[in-house]
Amino acid sequence: MKIAIVGTGYVGLVSGTCFAEMGVDVTCVDIDANKINNLIKGIIPIYEPGLEDMVLRNVKAERLHFTTNLTSVLNDIQVVFSAVGTPPDADGSADLQYVLEVARTIGQNMQQYILLVTKSTVPVGTASLVRQTIQTELDKRGVSIDFDVASNPEFLKEGDAIKDFMSPDRVVVGVESEKAKELITKLYRPFLLNNFRVIFMDILSAEMTKYAANAMLATRISFMNDMANLCELVGADINMVRKGIGTDQRIGGKFLYAGCGYGGSCFPKDVKALIQTADKNGYDLRVLKAVENVNAYQKQVLFHKLEKHFKSDLAGKTIAIWGLSFKPNTDDMREAPSLVLIEKLLQAGCKVRAFDPVAMHEAKQIVHSKMADLIQTDSSKIYFANDIYDAVLDADALMLVTEWKEFRMPSWGVVKKSMKGVLVLDGRNIYDKSEMQEFGFTYEPIG
Ligand code: UDX
Repeated sequence: MKIAIVGTGYVGLVSGTCFAEMGVDVTCVDIDANKINNLIKGIIPIYEPGLEDMVLRNVKAERLHFTTNLTSVLNDIQVVFSAVGTPPDADGSADLQYVLEVARTIGQNMQQYILLVTKSTVPVGTASLVRQTIQTELDKRGVSIDFDVASNPEFLKEGDAIKDFMSPDRVVVGVESEKAKELITKLYRPFLLNNFRVIFMDILSAEMTKYAANAMLATRISFMNDMANLCELVGADINMVRKGIGTDQRIGGKFLYAGCGYGGSCFPKDVKALIQTADKNGYDLRVLKAVENVNAYQKQVLFHKLEKHFKSDLAGKTIAIWGLSFKPNTDDMREAPSLVLIEKLLQAGCKVRAFDPVAMHEAKQIVHSKMADLIQTDSSKIYFANDIYDAVLDADALMLVTEWKEFRMPSWGVVKKSMKGVLVLDGRNIYDKSEMQEFGFTYEPIG
């Protein structure tokens, strides 16, 4: 079977490569010629464990191809997945220009049946716009060619993307015809051989499912962060509370970890977009507005703890940060809590020593462009360290912001000797309180 995937971002590249791994002949299409040229040379634009090897293997096997020209492959295939970006507009709603451009190109150039499957996260109702766009182009050409649209939202997590795609909990697909259903079934059967979990539904519900899933997960995190803050005030321990409630099967144990806020490309954007959709439909999504508020507050919690410890006397203090990406195993800095913290620290006159195993380059670029006014000419205000120990040199306090594996068991003796102060703020609750106290640290987790 031959398919095309438009958009070689996270979702597109991972989906295309995984389909190729299963034996499908895949052409990945992107308008960014530079990206495509790099991919042809085996240079991968994102960091994702296992992806590079898989891309190289499938390119070599001639199952995975890259091009900037969608039209050139259209006559050879039946299914096109669209995984192009839907960046937020100024008002938070998803910008559909790329999604509709794919539909336009298909309508202008298709010669036989095409099933266009939208994988990008798009607002409820987008599929009918996509359908209209294709039909308008066919009408302009004065031809009548059969086509279908479908919605197949993607639930993969960065850092676990390959595993999530290869063995998904379920695949959600919104379809309108038996033909579309058959094609999708054929494509996904190899992934779900033992336990076939494709949930077919109408397109509107499939589009809504993606937003509802991310909104629910974001809600769980903000709920736990709110509980954690209350636990601190009443003297309870959020980790015990998490274990206590997570064992109730109705609640379940996953995604209940309090921390210093959620980030990434999906939760913040999708929560905003869903609030927008509700507003446009005259409905006030009160729960999600609170979820956003709690998250904005939570990204500053470590800073508030620091202020409290130093009685707001922060000017001139040196603060070490471990972990910059929004979560481990990615170099993605989008909406990362570390950025909020770095900005607050610089505003307060602190010096920052930061380290991340993978995201240093990304982080440097963002900090130097977005916080140029805070750094001004004194580049010593922020130092990007060589390793975890270099980061804590002469630091008055250490903040653990992203729970990379290599931060889990540092030599605390070395850290203690290197630091000037004793405060360790654990934004992901990964350290053992009594061990930290034995080493002489003042240790503060979340909740
Ligand atoms: C998420 C969804 O999980 C995925 O299904 C969707 O397709 C895209 O959005 P991703 O953004 O890659 O995936 O990361 P995820 O692992 O879900 O984490 C999101 C954020 O939540 C991170 O900032 C993480 O640190 C935070 N988080 C997660 C918590 O604070 N607590 C938790 O218990 C879990």
